[in-house]
Amino acid sequence: MRLLGVIGFLAIAVGIAAGVFFFGGFYNIAATETDPAPVAAALVRVRTASIDHHATDRPPAGFGGPEMVQQGAAAFAARGCANCHGGPGVEWAKFSEGLNPSPPDLNEVGPELAPREVFWVVKNGIRMTGMPSFGAIGVTDDELWKIAAFVKALPQVTPADYAAWTAAKP
Ligand code: HEC
Repeated sequence: MRLLGVIGFLAIAVGIAAGVFFFGGFYNIAATETDPAPVAAALVRVRTASIDHHATDRPPAGFGGPEMVQQGAAAFAARGCANCHGGPGVEWAKFSEGLNPSPPDLNEVGPELAPREVFWVVKNGIRMTGMPSFGAIGVTDDELWKIAAFVKALPQVTPADYAAWTAAKP
């Protein structure tokens, strides 16, 4: 009985301390603060599991064809993805280095993600990171699949290809 009392008291004390810490303004929300390693690791697992669970749409027929990839490149450039992620032969904008978490190099993470996962992330965004939802601003599924096809094709896209595919059309 006494032990239960102690445990109950401790639980309440921890609750109050956490309340004071977070609502009293002591938690530092600055982007310059890094998460402790266990928190950072947990967040990656939460993100990976959440995307895998929610991304259920299947790629359309012909996904990954050359024309789709080229149109995806043009959409990728026009929608501003390169500002944060960079592109073949294109540097990301300086400000993206101030984002926390920092936008990943899509050349590296692209191959680890299924097409349905790339599509879902770009459509829905990732809360509490800089990754926007492009579905929320009315980008159609058709365009989103093209962007996903381009992201999946990234390792094979040369800077010259990207420059040609994203050049302003007359
Ligand atoms: C304002 C900056 C910003 C823009 C613009 C942006 N992203 Fe991101 N993106 C991020 C950040 C930050 C993350 C990392 C989120 C995280 O660590 O959970 C991310 C993550 C991703 C991921 C990886 C998700 C994963 O599971 O690893 C993909 C794919 C992606 N973005 C694609 C795109 C595409 C395609 C566009 C354009 C349509 C785009 N992003 C535009 C900031 C941006």
